[in-house]
Amino acid sequence: MSVPLLETRQLCKSFGGLHVTSDINLSLLAGDKVGLIGPNGAGKTTLINLITGMLPPSAGSVHLGGEDISHLSQAQRVRRGLVRTFQITQLAPTLPVGRQVEMAIHEREGSIGRMWKPLHAYQNVQDEALAILQSLRMASLSCRAPIELAYGEQRMVEVALAMALRPRVLLLDEPMAGVPPGERQVVLDALASLPSNLAILMIEHDIDLVFNFADRMLVLAEGALLAEGSPLEIRRHAAVRSAYLGEEA
Ligand SMILES: Nc1ncnc2c1ncn2[C@@H]1O[C@H](COP(=O)(O)OP(=O)(O)OP(=O)(O)O)[C@@H](O)[C@H]1O
Ligand SMILES: [Mg+2]
Repeated sequence: MSVPLLETRQLCKSFGGLHVTSDINLSLLAGDKVGLIGPNGAGKTTLINLITGMLPPSAGSVHLGGEDISHLSQAQRVRRGLVRTFQITQLAPTLPVGRQVEMAIHEREGSIGRMWKPLHAYQNVQDEALAILQSLRMASLSCRAPIELAYGEQRMVEVALAMALRPRVLLLDEPMAGVPPGERQVVLDALASLPSNLAILMIEHDIDLVFNFADRMLVLAEGALLAEGSPLEIRRHAAVRSAYLGEEA
């Protein structure tokens, strides 16, 4: 068996007496597309915060490519290829999209603030930024500022920024959140264009999107894994239907 790219072992988090994450064991291999669903407050974002190091766990560990990364900072995890996007958009509103992707590349390369870089290095960064936007079918947005864009486009600019960090594992927290129906296609196109070898864990309340995107589903309820299986198995799962889809079991 190959070593999982991302693994959590007995991951736990409590806030005071509130157990928000309870003994979560999950693993992703390269190329896995995993959907994470669960009711509001189930602990989905908290799980991502624990995986990325934004929050320290109360117990348990996080492993990337077999290495225990539990003690590493968020920035160190990003450098190893563990990258996230946020539930709420966090873009510089007026800086052109292409420039923001370039800045993310400079950040990855540790070259921000170094003024002595040769010009061709900047050309390479510009070329790479454009290639990233092209790969997500967003090249036409390069010269535009987020403030001018539709919200669905803004959300996918965040994915472009994440891709500039060369992730091996990408954690997406509700990429469709707040996107009006008329702007869904740009999101679907960009998500469908992500590389096949990238491991993705996607939180999403948009059931049609996540069930189509994922080849495996995890269901979280009250901080614990309630079920795991193919999208079809999860659709049919009685406990999931009552806990999440709000139906009578
Ligand atoms: N920093 C914190 N301090 C105290 N409680 C917290 C903190 N962060 C989250 N919680 C609580 O943990 C629980 C899980 O929150 P979390 O944001 O992980 O849920 P979620 O599944 O992402 O929900 P949603 O679908 O609404 O985004 C909630 O009850 C929340 O109030
Ligand atoms: Mg959340």
